[in-house]
Amino acid sequence: MTHLSPNSVQARDIASIVHPQTNLVAHLEQGPMVIEHGQGCYVYDDNGTRFLDAAAGLWCASLGYASERLARVAYEQMRKLGYYHLYRGTTNEAGVDLAEKLLQIAPVPMSKVLLQCSGSEANDTAIKLAWYYHAAIGKPDKRKIIGRRMGYHGSTSASISASGKADMHADFGLPFPGFLHTEYPHYYRHHYDGESEEQFSGRMAEALEQLIEAEGPESCAAFIAEPVMGAGGGLTPPRGYWEKMQAVIRKYDMLFIADEVICGFGRTGNMWGSQTYDLRPDMISCAKALSAGMQPISALLINKRVFEAMLDESRKLGNFAHGFTYAGHPVTTAVAMETLRIYEETDMIGHVRRVGPHMQQVLRRFADHPLVGDVRGVGLLTGIEMVADKATRTLFDPARKVGAMVDRHARANGLITRFIGDRIAFSPPLIITEAEIDDVASRLGRALDDAWEEVRGQ
Ligand SMILES: Cc1ncc(COP(=O)(O)O)c(C=O)c1O
Repeated sequence: MTHLSPNSVQARDIASIVHPQTNLVAHLEQGPMVIEHGQGCYVYDDNGTRFLDAAAGLWCASLGYASERLARVAYEQMRKLGYYHLYRGTTNEAGVDLAEKLLQIAPVPMSKVLLQCSGSEANDTAIKLAWYYHAAIGKPDKRKIIGRRMGYHGSTSASISASGKADMHADFGLPFPGFLHTEYPHYYRHHYDGESEEQFSGRMAEALEQLIEAEGPESCAAFIAEPVMGAGGGLTPPRGYWEKMQAVIRKYDMLFIADEVICGFGRTGNMWGSQTYDLRPDMISCAKALSAGMQPISALLINKRVFEAMLDESRKLGNFAHGFTYAGHPVTTAVAMETLRIYEETDMIGHVRRVGPHMQQVLRRFADHPLVGDVRGVGLLTGIEMVADKATRTLFDPARKVGAMVDRHARANGLITRFIGDRIAFSPPLIITEAEIDDVASRLGRALDDAWEEVRGQ
């Protein structure tokens, strides 16, 4: 690392911050990338270098990186009521407006909304409510939570236990007992020769059923999954997957939690991923694009069945003993509500339906690149997988870190992507234009060529 002045942001960062999802030793040496400001789909570092952010930050900056309109709403709300909570029956209008709106646009009939601050909190709460629900209906032994390998639901202890990310369990002593993971539905990587997507999906559903039978159906409380996997690689479900999986969940009377944290609010070309794939969840968690990433807010929508069980618990116990200080924070709810108004006024879903096919088409062209084995996506979400041998779908040795290599070359070409192993996910701000998508493609093309040179030279 070149010498840093002790007053530089980089040096002060190294001296003071522990970064999530970062190699802490390498960080001491390499220091941070400093993002100074943003506009539209672009962010600028402290040298003034412009990057097209094809990851929308962490799948969340749906309206880009600066908004006068949302800033005004936050400002006005802070002047009027900058904080209050929802404890002990207290409320404020901003929270009510948002909850009503979410119930109105929910993909399936939902009864109530719990407001919180992050996707992890929403999923953690969903898991607790699955336990609470089964206790309330007289089945307290129904406690096991089933997620999927490579599924991701957050970093809190329960939400990461439900996630199938082995790297995030290591040395934390997680997952907690009672959290199980079924197959990773990665058709391209894991299908047998000659196996169709439908057949593969059937095999995935059978694996879920076998897991439930082996564990004992009377002990299985809920299944949690994302309509499209994000941190699992920007991975769309194979044909027939959701129909077959939901039949198993229903058969064993488990609750279904749809994690819409990245799919919600237009990403897949509908308001919800649940609409794109015809999901019928009992609970829906959402966050990220709910506030265009501009305020830390999430919501958990629950159906009547779950809420009525919670009422029974209040009849028994009195208090619904759960809550967060910042749940329903009025600044977060006001900004989220305004974000939803912007989506409606600008027909954001219509926009995604118009530009999404263009993104899928231009990125699919990279399937011909020597590094690329698989390109698939939906709406404004695409995953591109690098393989060592296209004919046999052989993966690179993970130690070569080819995904990280492509990401590094992408940055050198002014493009921010999100790599997950050797898969690169694209989830640009929803406001992206066709011209900007073409810009993503040309920068990515250069990055892939540069990475290919490096791979061949190794
Ligand atoms: C599908 C999904 N669920 C949950 C989360 C966790 O959300 P948060 O980081 O806001 O806790 C994420 C974060 O990326 C996610 O992608």
